Amino acid sequence: SDLWTTEVDKGQISQVIGNLVINAQQAMPDGETINIKAENVNVTPKDNLPLQGGNYIKISVGDKGIGIPAEQLTKIFDPYFTTKQKGSGLGLATTYSIIHRHDGHITVKSEIGIGTTFHIYLPASAEQVKKKEGVKEETTTITGKILVMDDEEMVRNFVSKALKSFGNETEVARDGAEAIEKYKKAMDSDKPFDAVILDLTIPGGMGGKQAVKKLLEIDSDAKAVVSSGYANDPVVSNFEAYGFSGFIPKPYMLEELKKVLNNVMSEKKY
Ligand SMILES: Nc1ncnc2c1ncn2[C@@H]1O[C@H](COP(=O)(O)OP(=O)(O)O)[C@@H](O)[C@H]1O
Ligand SMILES: [Mg+2]
Repeated sequence: SDLWTTEVDKGQISQVIGNLVINAQQAMPDGETINIKAENVNVTPKDNLPLQGGNYIKISVGDKGIGIPAEQLTKIFDPYFTTKQKGSGLGLATTYSIIHRHDGHITVKSEIGIGTTFHIYLPASAEQVKKKEGVKEETTTITGKILVMDDEEMVRNFVSKALKSFGNETEVARDGAEAIEKYKKAMDSDKPFDAVILDLTIPGGMGGKQAVKKLLEIDSDAKAVVSSGYANDPVVSNFEAYGFSGFIPKPYMLEELKKVLNNVMSEKKY
């Protein structure tokens, strides 16, 4: 409660914590507990960190897992470095870039057979945002124009209707090609899309992974959210690395849909 505030991109930082927690879980096949804590620290030159001196929030994620051999410690943040059979090697690379984009830093301490702890430093805001006591945090719903891409008509229509009921304007597309076409068209009009929901897998058509690439080519500020029932798909667990701004699990839950779109549409650009 006495924690300093820090100004971050919520979606990106929750992805960071998610990546670290998944790694910790995978390092502990017996399912021990993961230790997560946050504290205020003042960084000085004495700390020998590649950071400007000052106030930081230090978040630590620790496990009692297998540990990381010393010779691998310098490689774990490299893209595609993995020791897992089905690993992507993108979790820590993404984590590293997100933290550095926030002017922070990440360190790791590990001992074989004892465990591993990652420490994240995020700069504390100069101005402390005081939360009024007893006042519930209000989430304002941000609305906009949203394109919904899904191969199933029922899903498209359901999501579109739901979004309209929250005050959004929507259009639908059945595959990536149609989504790109509609996005382009809207860009040329005076009402471009504020966000796009892309189904990851479209049988026989362009799916979300390819579509987001094309989308970012025509609009580098495009806000695309990947939707999928496969939370373990590497595209989903590392959606940022693929150019997405968020992930919505399927089947759709309205609150989740609202929350993710809110995040994405309010996203600060780093
Ligand atoms: N908590 C941890 N305990 C042990 N090893 C870890 C831990 N976190 C990361 N690693 C090592 O770093 C590598 C890279 O991690 P990451 O970038 O998330 O990719 P992936 O999880 O897909 O392998 C892992 O394959 C593993 O060898
Ligand atoms: Mg990982």
